[in-house]
Amino acid sequence: MSQYIDVSYDTKIPNNVGLSSDRRVLKALEKWHPGYLDWWKGSGPDGFLEDLVYLRTAVSVDPKGWAKFGYVKMPEYRWGILLAPQVEGRVIPCGEHYGEPAWQEVPGEYRAMLRRLIVIQGDTEPASVEQQRFLGKTAPSLYDMRNLFQVNVEEGRHLWAMVYLLQKYFGRDGREEADELLRRQSGSVDKPRMLGAFNEETPDWLSFFMFTYFTDRDGKMQLEALAQSGFDPLSRSCRFMLTEEAHHMFVGETGVGRTIQRTCEAMNEAGISDPTDIDRIRALGVIDLPTIQKKLNLHYTLSLDLFGSEVSTNAANAFNAGIKGRYQEHKIDDDHRLLDATYPVSEFTDGKIVIKDAPALTAINMRLRDDYTRDAAGGVKRWNTIIRKAGIEFELKLPHEGFHRQIGTYAGAPITPEGEVISAGEWAARRDEWLPSKADGDFIASLMVQVREPGEYAGWIAPPRMGIDGKPGDFEYVKLHDA
Ligand SMILES: [Fe+2]
Ligand SMILES: [Fe+2]
Repeated sequence: MSQYIDVSYDTKIPNNVGLSSDRRVLKALEKWHPGYLDWWKGSGPDGFLEDLVYLRTAVSVDPKGWAKFGYVKMPEYRWGILLAPQVEGRVIPCGEHYGEPAWQEVPGEYRAMLRRLIVIQGDTEPASVEQQRFLGKTAPSLYDMRNLFQVNVEEGRHLWAMVYLLQKYFGRDGREEADELLRRQSGSVDKPRMLGAFNEETPDWLSFFMFTYFTDRDGKMQLEALAQSGFDPLSRSCRFMLTEEAHHMFVGETGVGRTIQRTCEAMNEAGISDPTDIDRIRALGVIDLPTIQKKLNLHYTLSLDLFGSEVSTNAANAFNAGIKGRYQEHKIDDDHRLLDATYPVSEFTDGKIVIKDAPALTAINMRLRDDYTRDAAGGVKRWNTIIRKAGIEFELKLPHEGFHRQIGTYAGAPITPEGEVISAGEWAARRDEWLPSKADGDFIASLMVQVREPGEYAGWIAPPRMGIDGKPGDFEYVKLHDA
């Protein structure tokens, strides 16, 4: 018999949290639902409300079979509330309450801090859907279009997950925050989303792939840290969200990889061996590798900013309170309180980069960011393997942590991707060598055309090696209603 609770479909909202016997929360969520649907229709994928999309839906939290696939119209997607199973005897894994039983209710003294962390996490979820709103119109294939929509509906579900916590555990101000999550808007002047990277544009598919690789990976690290929370419902919620998040990063990694693959193939077919021969390469209708590096530089550095300041008392407080842990807290061999520990932190002072030992407690953000960088390096290595196998001499690199930063010690510092400190004037003059220029953006935009024939792909991207859910190459992942 399965120890996992199946999703209950006896209310409008699929869930494994016993909503049908929790009238108060059920009512609050049913009241929130129409506003959510309005938001989806007005801010979700533009022009695809009627189309049948081959999507996976979470139907249980059993790791062996948690999802089912089938055609669904996105507004009818079963967004559900799913928590990973409760771990018997779980204790608070860090901070001053280390070893005490995990909280099943909100600890009063940390209520404000906890609410803020949940709201910030919740805010990123609809933000990315808004950023990706127009991409369906230029999807390079039905396969890619379906992946975009899968990511979108799951970010929608992540919003539900955070809204559930607000409604269930925070009463009236939780309800107000839940409504505000539908009012802020990515890129809005009056009511922007809370974090910088979530107000940037995602103008093209290479941006989308870089975003899902780098920015969804920040999401992964934040979820990993919140999965360590002493507040058990948050931990369980984030643990299940991580299951879905893995697919988002897969979409990013394979999307960039397929773009690189196609570029290398086209170069080889045309007999071009110099990756910097940009005009000739672009004339082939593919994205040159130096431009891919620029896109990488942009999305990686925007994502680094999401980790906040290297030294942060907020982060220290959250750790100390046992509200947010470190990446894989349970695997770390130390006192989990960080009473005397130090951690190396970079600092930009007097035009120089120095590494200092700071109290580990205040360096929690820096540590998570370092874990992130290590995690992000894996895909870059695999991208380079594609280039090397094609016999082309070019290596993609993660830029220096001080390059193009807006938050923390390096904010505004004129540092090159190699980590060299230069003058502000030189940095400004050379900006377009390192970050996508208007012309780069225009070129990429010129390649963005919707391909809607099953099994066909736009010329700038290679087909995937495998279909979704074992489907064949010409599978119709999206049934476009006017096709
Ligand atoms: Fe998410
Ligand atoms: Fe995601």
